[in-house]
Amino acid sequence: MNFRELGHTCVMGMQWGDEGKGKIVDLMVSDFDVVVRYAGGANAGHTIVVGDERFALHQLPSGIIRPQVTSVIGPGTVIDPAVLLGEITSLRDRGVDIGENLKISDRAHLVFPYHRRSDVLTEQRARVGEKLGTTARGIGPCYADKYARHWAIRVCDLYPADRFRTRLAAVVAHKNAYLAGVHEVRETFDSERLAEEYLAFAEQLRPHVCNTTTLLYHLMREDKVVLFESAQGSLLDVDHGTYPYVTSSNSGGGGYATGAGVSPRAVQSVIGVLKAYATRVGSGPFPTELKDSVGDEIRERGHEYGTTTGRPRRCGWFDAVAGSYAAMFGGPTGLALMHLDTLTGMGEIKMCVVYKSGGAQTNEFPADAYQCEELQPVYETFAGWNDDVTECRRFADLPAAAQRYVRAIAERLETPIRMIGVGPSREQVIYLEEGEA
Ligand code: GDP
Ligand code: IMO
Ligand code: MG
Repeated sequence: MNFRELGHTCVMGMQWGDEGKGKIVDLMVSDFDVVVRYAGGANAGHTIVVGDERFALHQLPSGIIRPQVTSVIGPGTVIDPAVLLGEITSLRDRGVDIGENLKISDRAHLVFPYHRRSDVLTEQRARVGEKLGTTARGIGPCYADKYARHWAIRVCDLYPADRFRTRLAAVVAHKNAYLAGVHEVRETFDSERLAEEYLAFAEQLRPHVCNTTTLLYHLMREDKVVLFESAQGSLLDVDHGTYPYVTSSNSGGGGYATGAGVSPRAVQSVIGVLKAYATRVGSGPFPTELKDSVGDEIRERGHEYGTTTGRPRRCGWFDAVAGSYAAMFGGPTGLALMHLDTLTGMGEIKMCVVYKSGGAQTNEFPADAYQCEELQPVYETFAGWNDDVTECRRFADLPAAAQRYVRAIAERLETPIRMIGVGPSREQVIYLEEGEA
């Protein structure tokens, strides 16, 4: 399959993250000229498996291991330069070429150690039940500064050095007062030391920093084809997800336009990535969660442990109501259904097709997280399969029960399935012909 025919394409998570976006971007990106990470920051963990090698990317787009593709970190992201530079060094040590091919937006916001500190302290202070279960990467505090504006520092603010020092001194004074006053922290940040550390980062980043909005505009005019890589998932979107148990950026729907700095009319295809079941890491409502041995079995079979934090992921059945909601504001033109292999041998498989709320049935995904916690999933039950699917490369090779289950997901989400994941590696994928599911 040549993905270039899809035109400018966005790969978007449609659940609560970790759907397998890294694998799908890796599969598709060699047909594209450019890949753009447009939201989130080091909270993301995108895994690529190439032969015996496994790459876990946090800040860099998943196209970075293909040096012929231009990799862009867009203005809608938040960048922790220590994580980013560490990732660049470790990839270079593994033989990956990173030079001219990496472009970093001068408009992206920077994460500082005081953001990470306030993320951790705020979570520690929150009462049980009110903790968000963040990744502790400083994401919320950095985006809060971005929107509040007074204390934000962007990539372009690193240059020139004198102006950066002055700005950072004012910001650090404010942050120290906040940490001491609200969190009773005695050890505060030394703005001079922090300035030296970040000015050293600034020099390392400098060759990559540019106005990526202009760059993308010109590349698209030259008929270069762009792949947009979302982080997190639609149900973690700050506007449309299970608020407040979400991340702080637009990880679903139209986030690519503002996050990458392109026209909303630019994207021609959207590939929505979903698992054949559901997972969530961190707190928040999860109507189909299995808090029993079936959930444990999915976790062990699917190796469902966080790529960024190592936390065990909560596991449950596929939720077609939540999936349809994500499709409603995300507009996928095709789906990539991952981890079908994980369900092999599970016996009966269930899919939530409607919720029960206060005795009535509903297909509404509620705004209120408390109400969402109260929903009772109503399941449709499917026959399972026992035959190994990891070597299947055509839809027709799948057991009939697996085909029925896949078709049911396509029907519920009213979107064709274009790819099916049958294992973690690059080769373990089924490409579907039009009309197969
Ligand atoms: P992302 O954040 O959406 O990129 O997903 P993660 O990388 O955090 O988590 C997905 C995990 O599932 C990774 O360990 C992948 O290697 C693995 N994976 C992806 N697709 C499949 C699949 O179809 N089957 C199996 N068994 N593993 C998969
Ligand atoms: P990828 O890109 C899964 C979750 C956290 C927490 C909530 C808020 O790998 O799919 P944050 O640190 O962003 O303030 O945490 O969002 N979360 C993710 N869950 N995959 C991710 O990224 C996530 N990024 C954030 O667990 O519940
Ligand atoms: Mg992940």
